[in-house]
Amino acid sequence: MKNLISMRDISKEDILKLIDSANKIETGKVKVDMSGKLAALLFFEPSTRTHFSFETAVKKLGGNTFSMSGTSSTSVKKGETLADTLMTISMYVDIIIIRHIIEGAARFASETVNIPVINAGDGTNQHPTQAMLDLYSIQKTQGSLNNLTVGMVGDLRLGRTVHSLAQALSDFNPTFYFASPRHLQMPAYIKDDLKAKNIKFTELEDIKDVMHTLDIMYVTRIQKERFAVLEDYEKVKDSYIITKKLLEGVKKNFKVLHPLPRVNEITKDVDDTEYAYYFQQARNGVFMRQAIITELLNLEKH
Ligand code: CP
Repeated sequence: MKNLISMRDISKEDILKLIDSANKIETGKVKVDMSGKLAALLFFEPSTRTHFSFETAVKKLGGNTFSMSGTSSTSVKKGETLADTLMTISMYVDIIIIRHIIEGAARFASETVNIPVINAGDGTNQHPTQAMLDLYSIQKTQGSLNNLTVGMVGDLRLGRTVHSLAQALSDFNPTFYFASPRHLQMPAYIKDDLKAKNIKFTELEDIKDVMHTLDIMYVTRIQKERFAVLEDYEKVKDSYIITKKLLEGVKKNFKVLHPLPRVNEITKDVDDTEYAYYFQQARNGVFMRQAIITELLNLEKH
């Protein structure tokens, strides 16, 4: 692996290796030394978890970071191109972690610079490090990634995390239920990938009827900022509200995951149940991102 841009670029073996590495880092079985190395965190779009967990990951490995949140204090404001900005920054650092509003921006970055690039989310397209931490969370809670029944709920069209996760899980024979408003269904290219691999999936509007079959329910926010017309958002914003009551009768191993941030799609009373796993999921992001950086920079492990 030279870059991590899309889950399409990474093999089942890579996935299993990264999960194993994240586990060894979390449990202290391996120590990694990133001292003397610098990561640029270029966030052209807002972030809490991805930005700060990458920052935590680099610092825990002994490396250092510099960060950009928005372009207001950079020469982008003077009209500098993305290519020139990236080339310049690549002269200073060992790895670039980029989040951008435009689909394909991370791929463009990886084709522009000569150092590793990690996609921290590109528009509505992909969020591969989120998918990797999701897989790590699923492995930890279910003991396996194989043969699971997974419900994905919410904005499956504009929410990039579900695109990456559906592709990531497709190597492990899942059964998917995709619950979304009709206009926010999983994109055709993801469904085509799943069909090509003979993965079973069903599209529905209501998740209630299949709750008792699920191992994982992956809830997502309706992506308000990506709607061109606010009225269209208003029509669908409350389509799914997961409550404690809805979880009655679920399987013992069942867990609720959410990439976060949430707005109102999971009520607070779910947080105190044994099924809520979304904050631990965010914590798992630090170990997985440590593992990804270790792999891409070929850092020494002890
Ligand atoms: N899950 C996720 O990408 O969260 P942030 O937007 O806060 O980084």
